[in-house]
Parts: sequence; structure tokens; C-alpha cells
Amino acid sequence: MTTAIDHHPTRLRRSVLCVPADNARALAKVRQLAADTVIFDLEDAVALEHKGEAREALVRHLSKHRPDCEVVIRVNALGSGFGQMDLTAAVAASPDAILLPKVESPVDIQTAVDWLGENDAPESIRLWAMIETPRSLLNVAAIAETGRTFGGRLDCFVVGLNDLGKETGVPAHPGRAYLVPWLMQILLAARGSGLDVIDAVFNDFRDAEGFAAECRQGRDMGYDGKMLIHPAQIGPANEHFGVEQAAVEEARAIIAAFDLPENAGKGVINLHGRMVERLHLDQALKLAAKADMIEKRKAKP
Ligand code: COA
Ligand code: MG
Repeated sequence: MTTAIDHHPTRLRRSVLCVPADNARALAKVRQLAADTVIFDLEDAVALEHKGEAREALVRHLSKHRPDCEVVIRVNALGSGFGQMDLTAAVAASPDAILLPKVESPVDIQTAVDWLGENDAPESIRLWAMIETPRSLLNVAAIAETGRTFGGRLDCFVVGLNDLGKETGVPAHPGRAYLVPWLMQILLAARGSGLDVIDAVFNDFRDAEGFAAECRQGRDMGYDGKMLIHPAQIGPANEHFGVEQAAVEEARAIIAAFDLPENAGKGVINLHGRMVERLHLDQALKLAAKADMIEKRKAKP
């Protein structure tokens, strides 16, 4: 039995932009964009007849223009006929992570971990997993647990509601009423194994209001960020999955209070008439660390 591990965000993943690997104009645009993470996609965004040229274009592009953000490559499923060639190209491009689509069971993680090990992929290349089929949802806790224990490469889940909608018949209407239980189940599984978790794309990229509402919902459900399809979604995602100034100030006050010599040995203190425990200190430290990461990212040229 393992216990749940604490969720310590070490990177910002507020805005996770998907870029089709065969779209030269979109590839060229990436370096001007403020996404925390870019997923270069070889899977659903690339038509079957373009798979080979997309793979080559991506490797060429990344060798010359590495963006100043987290770099993830989404490969085709390992059983698809493209998976092995995609993995070989991905490892050569040395991304921060490889995103596996349609992960349905722990075996899918194990197979990718084995392949990476056998092909001497450095440990620094992490794995992400799309949770986007009925079976992946049914097995989500086991997938998270395997990813954490088996070679430990799994860092992050991304929810895929377009595929899930297709497979289940449950559409993502505004408010996502019937999807919320599944989204929360995924969140629980991720947190139980210390993984980050990214909310699904919002297809209607001209609907700024609808997008903002869904960002707020994702944030309130505990998600770290949102998968995006269009540059216009980056700014709002960074804002909604960022930090609120008032909350950061409160966090800094909690940290300062526990730093006082008179509070050194205390588990619980009175801060302006409110009970504050050491668990709140942990939360405050995480929030302050996130605020620092956001400041640092803003300061970049
Ligand atoms: N990444 C980087 N740049 C993008 C982009 C993306 N995902 N989506 C659009 N852009 C660029 C366009 O190239 C265009 O720049 P340009 O004028 O220099 O060419 C600019 O942003 C404005 O784009 P716009 O005209 O509004 O949209 P479009 O018709 O070019 O593209 C989509 C619309 C939906 C086809 C495109 O956004 C897209 O392919 N998104 C990603 C889809 C995807 O990855 N799906 C799989 C995961 S769900
Ligand atoms: Mg999908």
C-alpha cells in the first residue's frame, strides 16, 4: 500500500497549447506565444496521409526553434502503426515529455516505459497520458498509480472530452453537468498519485465568455490548467489558472506568521482571529511558489 503523495507543482501548466505538427504557420508562431506548455501534435490534429511528413517537419522544426516553454510531443497510439516511429522521432527531439493518447490501462503506461528504457531515453523525458475513453476512466486510478510506481515517468493527465463524447454519447454542453463526476474522478486519481491534471479543450475558440466560464470551472475543480487549441485562449487561461493577488498576500502573511520565533514550535496559531494550521502553511508555501514562478515567467524577454 502506498499513501497519497502531496501535489507539489514544480512547473506552471496554466495554458497547454496544442499545435498540429504539419501546420507550418502555427509552428512558426509558437515562439511568440505565452503558453506555459506546447503540445506538438502528431495524433488527431494530423490527417493519416500526412503522418510521415508531420513527424519529419516537427523534428526539423524543434532542432532549430526550441520554444522557451515546456515542450511536449503527442505521439500516435503505440498500437496504431505510427507509434514506434513517433516515439523514435520524439526521443530524438528531446522534449520535456511525451503525451500518450487513448491510454486505457496500466499496461499502456508500462509498454511506453519499457520502450523508453530499451531505447535509452533519458529519465528527463517524462510521460503524460490522455484520459479520453470509457476504459481509461474506468481504470484511471490504476493508471495513475502505475505511472507513479512503474519507472515513475508519469507526470500529468490531460482530459480528452472530444473523444470521450464520441465514445460515450455525453456532450460537453455549457456547465458540463453530466461530465463533472468524471472530471472529478480523474482529478482524484491524479492527486492520489501526485500528478498534474489538465482540463479538456474548448472547441469554440471565438466564444470568449464560454471559454472563461469553463476555465473558472476547471480551476474550481482543482485542475492545473487547460489544453488549448488557439492562441486567443492563452491569455485567459493564464489568468484564470494563475493566482489572485489577495490570496498571495494572505499566503505570505501565513508564512511570515509561522516564521515568528514565538510560533516556531506551534502546530496551530491565531492569525487575526482565524485558526491557521501547518497544513495551511503548506498550502501557502505552494501558492507563494506558484506566484514566484508566474513572476519569473513574466520577467522573461
Ligand atoms: N498554435 C499556433 N498558432 C495557431 C494555432 C495553434 N494551435 N491556431 C491558430 N494559430 C495561428 C494561425 O496560424 C494564425 O496565424 P497566421 O495568421 O500567422 O497564420 C493565427 O493563429 C489566427 O488563427 P485563425 O485564423 O484564427 O485560425 P485558423 O483558421 O488558422 O486555425 C484551427 C483554426 C482550429 C484550425 C487551429 O486553431 C488549430 O489547428 N488548432 C489546434 C487543433 C489541434 O491541435 N487539435 C488537436 C488537439 S484537440
Ligand atoms: Mg483525442
